[in-house]
Amino acid sequence: MSDDNILEFRNVTKRFGGITALDDVTFAVKRGEIHGLCGENGAGKSTLMKILSGVYPYGDYEGTVLLNGKELKLTDRAIHQAREEGIAIVYQELTLVPHMTVGENVFLGKEPTQAGSISWNVLYAQTRDILQRYQLDVSPQATVRSLGVGKMQMVEIAKALSEEAQVLILDEPTSALTEAEITKLMEILHNLRKLDVTCIYITHKLEEFFRITDSITILRDGKTVTTQPTAALSREKLVSYMVGREMKERFPQSQRTPGEVIFEVKDLKATDPFGSRTVLDGVSFNVRRGEILGIAGLMGSGRTELVTTIFGEYGKITGGTITMEGRELHPRSARQAMHDGISLVPEDRKGQGLVLMQSILKNISLANLDKYSGFMSIDADAELEAAMKQGKSMSIKAPDLHARVDSLSGGNQQKVVIAKWLLSTPKLLIMDDPTRGIDVGAKFEIYKLMNELAANGVAIIMISSELEEVLGVSDRVMVMHHGRSTRTLDIKDSSQERIMQLATGIAAE
Ligand SMILES: Nc1ncnc2c1ncn2[C@@H]1O[C@H](COP(=O)(O)OP(=O)(O)OP(=O)(O)O)[C@@H](O)[C@H]1O
Ligand SMILES: [Mg+2]
Repeated sequence: MSDDNILEFRNVTKRFGGITALDDVTFAVKRGEIHGLCGENGAGKSTLMKILSGVYPYGDYEGTVLLNGKELKLTDRAIHQAREEGIAIVYQELTLVPHMTVGENVFLGKEPTQAGSISWNVLYAQTRDILQRYQLDVSPQATVRSLGVGKMQMVEIAKALSEEAQVLILDEPTSALTEAEITKLMEILHNLRKLDVTCIYITHKLEEFFRITDSITILRDGKTVTTQPTAALSREKLVSYMVGREMKERFPQSQRTPGEVIFEVKDLKATDPFGSRTVLDGVSFNVRRGEILGIAGLMGSGRTELVTTIFGEYGKITGGTITMEGRELHPRSARQAMHDGISLVPEDRKGQGLVLMQSILKNISLANLDKYSGFMSIDADAELEAAMKQGKSMSIKAPDLHARVDSLSGGNQQKVVIAKWLLSTPKLLIMDDPTRGIDVGAKFEIYKLMNELAANGVAIIMISSELEEVLGVSDRVMVMHHGRSTRTLDIKDSSQERIMQLATGIAAE
């Protein structure tokens, strides 16, 4: 091996029972580079990184991993050993302990001590230093539970950075970050590169690979396809390596003519559940039968608060009206919202959408919905058949539908939640950032399903942080800013610039 390779994977194979998650993976990572790891949901990215962090220790896989030319033999699952080797990881799933403070989390398992007991002053002072170094506006004493998902993700990253690692692994670090936070992260990574820190970077937002990485390794079905300098790749090439075929179109063609307005919100105002803070301050829009309405806006602009309030799960309504087919709704619970014909694919799919220890089938199947709606009754065979069909059409990667959901890759878990809600045949389907963490091929399938539902007369509201997606999928787009709706634009009159101007408040409403 040459000196400038910090890491080398040689013929690494990892099986889970009958499933081969990694199959003869072989590639090298150069010292000091930002190395992208790219692949569809279930390709094996997270599994490979878990070998580097000791979740799957030495002996639990075949093949060899070399760190600085020496074979890595981690035996301790608790990542202490990986840390000692200079490997720090930010997992795809957040791992902070919610009821502990930010400081306690950052120093978990390595608390500074004085005369045998934890020195809290030192711990909080050092936490403050770390947060300041990365300009994070978070109090060291805040409990993690009180932070939003984006802040949590930044704390998680700061925690990994505080370990002064020689290899930093980021598994989808930006999924919940605002554009400003992403820019900050990119700056941090550039600076680390100057310090010769090596970074392995996983994302489904392909533009991030081009923005930040030096080279990219592509995995497909657990196998290494190729490693290339980023400069030698184009988006199209990357995608074709990933999915194993040419994919010219990002969005499926669709032609539809939306019908009459079926759902309407007028001047909606609401506070948080405690009545202490205004979250919606005048939101108006409507959706037509068979229409896809995109909702754009920056993180924190009130998009999720809007849809969860409509769904009866959040917020206290203090003004305005919501009507479905001309009838006024008073959302009080998810059950009632579903009874009124509304379904919501939630943003936090892990927390709200899944029973991790249950099978895919149980999770998708209408039995779950019965619990909410109480009025549907469907025989088991039909249920099974519907779930099978949905699982197939979304290409959920699993041995079969009886596999437990917690054995699926992150993206495939998300597909299960989406499949479940697509089966509920609502009049209005609300999707909160449905394609976050989902690979390009599966995104395309989800867009196709949305088109089919719209063609069958379902009205769809889709929140999305990806402007290209909003423009590629919606008929119209409503832009939010500071808890208010600004304008609803026809998609043919809108552009990324126009939407950003409204979202940031630069353009007059
Ligand atoms: N604990 C487990 N038990 C059984 N199978 C598993 C387990 N963990 C992962 N797998 C399987 O290994 C394969 C690779 O999963 P992995 O999580 O590495 O994918 P990934 O590339 O990170 O995907 P994503 O982009 O969705 O996060 C998948 O088929 C997954 O179902
Ligand atoms: Mg993963």
